[in-house]
Amino acid sequence: MAFLVSNTMTSPALMVLLCCFLLIANGAHQSEACYGTNQKLQSLQVSAPANQPYLTSYHFRPPQNWINDPNGPMHYKGVYHLFYQYNPLGPLFGDKMIWAHSVSYDLINWIHLSHALCPSGPYDINSCWSGSVTILPGDKPFILYTGIDASGQQVQNLAMPENLSDPLLKDWVKFSGNPVMTPPNGVKDDMFRDPTTAWQAPDGRWRVVVGGQIDNEGMAFVYWSWDFIHWTKLDHPLYSVQETGMWECPDFFPVSINGTIGVDTSVLNPGVKHVLKTSLFSDKHDYYVLGTYDPQMDIFSPDTDFHGNSNDLRYDYGKFYASKTFFDSAKNRRVLWAWANESDSTQDDIDKGWSGVQTVPRAIWLDKSGKQLVQWPVEEIETLRGKQVSIHDKELGSGSIVEVSGITASQVDVEIDFELPELEEAELFDPAWVDPQQLCNDKNASIQGRFGPFGLLILATEDLTEKTAIFFRIFKGQNKYVVLMCSDHSRSSLKEDLDKTTYGAFVDIDPHHGKVSLRSLVDHSIVESFAARGKTCITTRVYPKVAVENEAHLFAFNNGTQSVVISSLNAWNMNQARLSEEESFKL
Ligand SMILES: *[C@@H]1O[C@H](CO)[C@@H](O)[C@H](O)[C@H]1NC(C)=O
Ligand SMILES: *[C@@H]1O[C@H](CO)[C@@H](O)[C@H](O)[C@H]1NC(C)=O
Ligand SMILES: *[C@@H]1O[C@H](CO)[C@@H](O)[C@H](O)[C@H]1NC(C)=O
Ligand SMILES: *[C@@H]1O[C@H](CO)[C@@H](O)[C@H](O)[C@H]1NC(C)=O
Ligand SMILES: *[C@@H]1O[C@H](CO)[C@@H](O)[C@H](O)[C@H]1NC(C)=O
Repeated sequence: MAFLVSNTMTSPALMVLLCCFLLIANGAHQSEACYGTNQKLQSLQVSAPANQPYLTSYHFRPPQNWINDPNGPMHYKGVYHLFYQYNPLGPLFGDKMIWAHSVSYDLINWIHLSHALCPSGPYDINSCWSGSVTILPGDKPFILYTGIDASGQQVQNLAMPENLSDPLLKDWVKFSGNPVMTPPNGVKDDMFRDPTTAWQAPDGRWRVVVGGQIDNEGMAFVYWSWDFIHWTKLDHPLYSVQETGMWECPDFFPVSINGTIGVDTSVLNPGVKHVLKTSLFSDKHDYYVLGTYDPQMDIFSPDTDFHGNSNDLRYDYGKFYASKTFFDSAKNRRVLWAWANESDSTQDDIDKGWSGVQTVPRAIWLDKSGKQLVQWPVEEIETLRGKQVSIHDKELGSGSIVEVSGITASQVDVEIDFELPELEEAELFDPAWVDPQQLCNDKNASIQGRFGPFGLLILATEDLTEKTAIFFRIFKGQNKYVVLMCSDHSRSSLKEDLDKTTYGAFVDIDPHHGKVSLRSLVDHSIVESFAARGKTCITTRVYPKVAVENEAHLFAFNNGTQSVVISSLNAWNMNQARLSEEESFKL
């Protein structure tokens, strides 16, 4: 039995599955081309234009066209798989989205395979939208994804590999009994999508969460199943919050309360806490809450209330959406993927021939405080590091700027540690400053403070007419210091028609007892920054007009009245990741 699901199954469930397997065997095969090789497609498949200063070198992306959400990441028989939302017909979002499929042995270098899921049946003829993979006992990966059906409603469908012995899982077969879930009563047809990876509660039943909303109350619907095919919706959601609108791409997983080791999605014991993440459609941010999962009631109780505003925790305070984690059994860690969309215009995307990248995969774990998560680029990214330059123990007086020379500043990994003197003189923090993004906007890189702004100037011209300033400010609060991290794009490009929003977030550290650190991964048009070893992250898209390729410079700066010390700075040229295509990718 190729699709035997679980050894804990009761026999009626097994019967059902046997019967379903027969149906599956008659299901639609996916090995044929997504859209055939018609004239239209061929004419659109011109390769991207040659002059591409914004094309990334080590971030995951297809050769061209539009991408969005990461889907179904997993590690299976020694191979990492990433599926993603893709429009094979062009650089803008499309009305027939598919699941493209790529594989890797190291999370860095990728091979693009033939597409995994394309619209084919009445249950997904208008798009194969986001979803997840669950690896069932016996190493059997099942995809649950959202189909846009013939009448435009959002339904959940199942697909399985055609050949479980193929570690690349090239061919996928859709379950002929699709859909397995349709919008429940009271839920609008277009408010029901993005199933999570399922988990098995101690009673042996599988649970899965689907994102949605009723009226303006965002929620995580829970379904359960014995056999992974027949799903029953529970009366109450896992968790819901009024006035938060549509919850897209929910993610629900346990984290160890002690240490950085990741755990599989069904692990439930006193050594774990649970994370619920939702991608809020209303403001396009990924928020998460920590809390406790009760498997008897199937309820998630958050440690702190969630409102969907600047008081809540986010994975990343820049451009970072529709993220999804998976448990990497090869390295016992949980890995996070997300989509970073463009900040340029639609016309720019048409001219470039592509839109969207995936962020660098990040390991994610619970901070020692138990109050937030920490993220750090997977260690494999360091294999791309080439030539290194360093600076040590350099005092940065008020208004000083130091160039980090000898590297290619458009493709670099830079880590800097600032050591601060006595902070008694820090400016007072006004408790009315509740929105860090607004604060960064009001106090941008050219507004002098006492401690700060200090940080990095990235993708900068030599004369600083173009620069992206990623910096800190330190304030004295009621009974602790407040550290603010900003990513200021107001002068990031001389080009017009770009979204130059400034981002900001607080960093929960005590700068009095230690250093303030920053790491930035720069890759032509994307900058991913990690403060305090991954406690606060900001991802941005940047499109300099002049500071591209060899014209890009990197500086450390301090524009506060007080000196700070660079205790260490290390920067590495980053080599290009290998992204190759199998012939079948184009189909
Ligand atoms: C399944 O995959 C294995 C490993 O790639 C291969 O040897 C075998 O021929 C495949 N079976 C079928 C039916 O394609
Ligand atoms: C945390 O893990 C370490 C090493 O695995 C162990 O020695 C320690 O006792 C654990 N602490 C708690 C509170 O569980
Ligand atoms: C994509 O980028 C635009 C402009 O920068 C932004 O307004 C929009 O909300 C973004 N969408 C998502 C899903 O992140
Ligand atoms: C530092 O502040 C001065 C005065 O506000 C400003 O002119 C200059 O551009 C700032 N430097 C940087 C690197 O932002
Ligand atoms: C900072 O704000 C000032 C005043 O709004 C603006 O002129 C300037 O372009 C902004 N950015 C930088 C980096 O100076």
